[in-house]
This record gives sequence, C-alpha cells and structure tokens, in this order.
Amino acid sequence: MRRINIAIDGFSSCGKSTLAKQLAHHLHYTYIDSGAMYRAIALYVIENGLVIDGKLDKVDLLRVLDQIHIGFKHDDVSQRSETWLDGRNVEHKIRGMEVSRHVTLVSPVPEVRAKLVQLQKALGTEKGVVMDGRDIGTVVFPDAEVKLYMTARPEIRAMRRYQELKGRGVEVDYASVLENIERRDEDDTKRAADPLIKAPDAFEIDNSDLSSHEQFDIALGVVVKTIGVVTEA
Ligand code: DC
Repeated sequence: MRRINIAIDGFSSCGKSTLAKQLAHHLHYTYIDSGAMYRAIALYVIENGLVIDGKLDKVDLLRVLDQIHIGFKHDDVSQRSETWLDGRNVEHKIRGMEVSRHVTLVSPVPEVRAKLVQLQKALGTEKGVVMDGRDIGTVVFPDAEVKLYMTARPEIRAMRRYQELKGRGVEVDYASVLENIERRDEDDTKRAADPLIKAPDAFEIDNSDLSSHEQFDIALGVVVKTIGVVTEA
C-alpha cells in the first residue's frame, strides 16, 4: 500500500492529536506532535531564566538555540512517543499551564520556527507520518497527500481541555483555560511567521458536535480516497 504523509492543522485543543493518533495507529504510521517541540522550547526558556517580566530574552535564546536538543523516544511503560529536551523526558512538564502560557513567546520567533520546521521535515522524508500542528500542510509538508484542517467552537475546546487537565490532577479553572485558548487562537492566526491558515487543498472538519468516532470515520474516508482501502498490516 502506498505510504503518504498526513498533515493535520487547526486551533489549540480541537482534538488534532486524538485524531492524529487514531489515524497513525490504524495505518501503522508514526505520529508526530509538532506542538510538543514548541512547548519544549518554551520549557527551556522558563527553566533557563530567559523570560524576564513576561518578556522573552530573544538575544540569549538565539545564542543557545543551536545547542537545544529536542527529540522523541518511545516509552515502554506509557506505550507512547514522549518528548525529550536535552537528554531529559519532559513529556509531563510541557503539558502544564505554565508552558501553555509561555509558548506563544517562542512560537512566533522565526529562528525557532526555522529550527523546528527543519527537524519536522526531516522526520517526514520516509513518509508514513501523521503530524499535527499549525503550519504542517502549508509549510512543513506542503506536498502532503492528505491535509486536514480542524476547527471547533472555543467554548467546546476549553471544556475539553479543562476536563483533560482536571483528569490529570492539574489545578485549573475553566475561565482561565478559555482565556488561554482564545489568546492562543489570536496569536496563532495573527503572527507574521507561518500563521495558522487553512491550506487551499485541506479538508475542513468542524468537530464541535462530532464524537471522536465520527471524526475518525470522516478523516479515514479522506485518506481512503487518496490511497485506496486500508488493509490490515
Ligand atoms: O498544539 P499545541 O497546543 O500543543 O501547540 C503549542 C503551541 O505551539 C501553540 O500555541 C502553537 C504553537 N505551534 C506552532 O506555532 N506551530 C506548530 N506547528 C505547532 C504548534
């Protein structure tokens, strides 16, 4: 069966990673969470004192950017690919609200994007990748055979994220989750470097009122149209 790359873009917390993981599992592809890479850089700047009074010390970040090492490793216990920063598993740390609040300091920096986009492109050269993010169908894999663009109403996304954080024992309130999502929507769509836009050839899925099964069926339908019926490997 022909192997392809699948690009999934969309707003924060609209189920991109759930869908990407389902597709990767079904197709025996590799799932790559590009947002985790931006989160890892955000964690780096927090931990290394490169945020002063809520502002990024860009000069110092650019000085060390080449030496920051970000990668993914399969974890045998969680059975998932987890994010590593400079030799340390940071999967749990990058999911917290502090990183969510700081990630839009680093994601608009063109040099950060150039570094991460280069890594992401390299991960897709062999095909068989499902990658989610904001600029995957437009910048990272402009030639991806399947591009999905996902949306959902902000209140629905905030409630899903709130429940997910609560479920993991994180202390949060719904209002601040919604505010964070709305601010990130604004930052993601308005930034100059690689903003979130729908690629002209992307298939849009608004999942506000869809179950994850329904969404998966729609997405798989798009994949099947491109590569034919998926047979069990
Ligand atoms: O998907 P996420 O919420 O984990 O992404 C974290 C942040 O990284 C988000 O605010 C936008 C940014 N991001 C980006 O700019 N480009 C990507 N390809 C993926 C994420």
